[in-house]
Amino acid sequence: MNEQIASIQTAALELIAAASDVRSLDDARVAVLGKKGTLSLAGALIKDIPNEEKAAFGQSLNSARAAITEALEGKQQALQEIADNAALSGIDLTLPARALPTGSLHPLTLIRDEAIRILRRMGFALADGPEIEDEYHCFDALNTPADHPARNEKDTFYFDSGKLLRTHTSSVQIRTMESSAPPIRIIAPGSAYRRDEIDATHLSVFNQLEGLFVDSDVTLPDLKGTLEYFLREMFGTSTEVRFRPHFFPFTEPSFEIDVKLQIKGQAPRWIEVAGCGMVDPAVFESINATRKDNALDPEKVTGFAFGMGLDRLAMIRWGIKDIRLLIENDVRFLRQFA
Ligand code: DAH
Repeated sequence: MNEQIASIQTAALELIAAASDVRSLDDARVAVLGKKGTLSLAGALIKDIPNEEKAAFGQSLNSARAAITEALEGKQQALQEIADNAALSGIDLTLPARALPTGSLHPLTLIRDEAIRILRRMGFALADGPEIEDEYHCFDALNTPADHPARNEKDTFYFDSGKLLRTHTSSVQIRTMESSAPPIRIIAPGSAYRRDEIDATHLSVFNQLEGLFVDSDVTLPDLKGTLEYFLREMFGTSTEVRFRPHFFPFTEPSFEIDVKLQIKGQAPRWIEVAGCGMVDPAVFESINATRKDNALDPEKVTGFAFGMGLDRLAMIRWGIKDIRLLIENDVRFLRQFA
């Protein structure tokens, strides 16, 4: 090997061996193989060498470059290993991994989804309507006279504009009948708002699930059968259900539905879960007057409607005594549904 190149190689290998970190190793690489590095400069001399010696010189150059490159790579690996070990020292890799906290669905979401699942199996489709409503959709179209107590400022949140926060999801019945024609079979879960005094069974924001079925021959037994089936699916096949005559302006006849709550060690009691009834022909009539196709002619269509309290259903399902637990987001409460 060319003597000059041999000494460059020796010096380079010493430099590499002495490098104590990635940075000084890089400096060594530049000092030898960089544009102005020792080996590169030596290589440039090849043009001054007599032709017959060029081949041997070139070979020396190549073998020096190969040896230096190999040394650089080996050293690079060794230094990396040292750095990795330093980073990992003090960490016990045999410890179990930290558990990722996972959330769970809120009981109201669980009960709503279950109610939707049951009713969809019976052919009900989801419908929706605004929470900020006008008096027409919340009251007038539902046959509720201007002097009805529910329309009182003490009971309903009104905006200055005259709009209001819907007091029930029944307004979705009207919006659906305005925009579609029978057969109509919809459910509409959502929030409702009342200026109620807050206590263990009342909140000013609560959740309802509205239902509406309109067709040419819907009868009271359809209503009873649908809701009894629903409540037994929800609470078990032996659940006792009671229809109590009641009054709602938009249904005739009207009922409130009670479910018998049996908790071990407690006397059984009836809990109201829903209002329902056969759609009052006056409701069909007023909507029909606004459409041109006469599709809601009260002589031709009948229907039933119901509105359930989802918070109530959840309270019965899990024996929750205070409705406020549903909005306080206390994790000790919520974890029980995980
Ligand atoms: N909207 C009534 C309420 O909030 C509940 C209700 C009763 C809904 C009878 C209905 C119905 O659809 O037919 O108290």
